[in-house]
Amino acid sequence: MKITTHSEKQTINLGQKLAQNFEGGEIIGLVGELGAGKTNLIKGIGQGLGVKQTITSPTFVLMKVYPLKSLNSKIKRLVHVDAYRLKTGQDLIAIGLQDYLKNSETITVIEWANKIKNILPKKTIFAKIEFTNKPNQRIIKIE
Ligand SMILES: Nc1ncnc2c1ncn2[C@@H]1O[C@H](COP(=O)(O)OP(=O)(O)OP(=O)(O)O)[C@@H](O)[C@H]1O
Ligand SMILES: [Mg+2]
Repeated sequence: MKITTHSEKQTINLGQKLAQNFEGGEIIGLVGELGAGKTNLIKGIGQGLGVKQTITSPTFVLMKVYPLKSLNSKIKRLVHVDAYRLKTGQDLIAIGLQDYLKNSETITVIEWANKIKNILPKKTIFAKIEFTNKPNQRIIKIE
């Protein structure tokens, strides 16, 4: 699937729409250069799942967990990982990421997923965000 967005808002909306189809246990790997829009896509996913807190980039903490309060949803939390500073997934294994990856009540979204491919399962859905020659345009490829 290939989608072109023309603003930050549209990328957030795309994240919201994607989240509406999640059933629990999805792992989304985001790939794209600095400022591509990875955090904005996660913001939308968070909104779509009903996360109340503002989602900010977890660059300095590797991983943030956002609990979901909804009683009627199978999905209980959104885990946001930023692998920017990593070369492998070892540090994330050390802080327990793999338990979340295996958990069917968890949605995990990983910025810079290309850096920790070695620990991501085959079922990971990758979203590649690319710049174009227009400043507010992005091409988002999901596979
Ligand atoms: N179509 C678009 N989709 C998303 N962001 C856009 C778009 N057009 C412009 N932008 C701008 O690009 C920037 C994207 O920032 P964002 O933090 O989401 O990127 P990122 O990929 O997470 O960066 P980093 O690698 O630093 O974590 C924002 O300043 C946003 O306003
Ligand atoms: Mg980011």
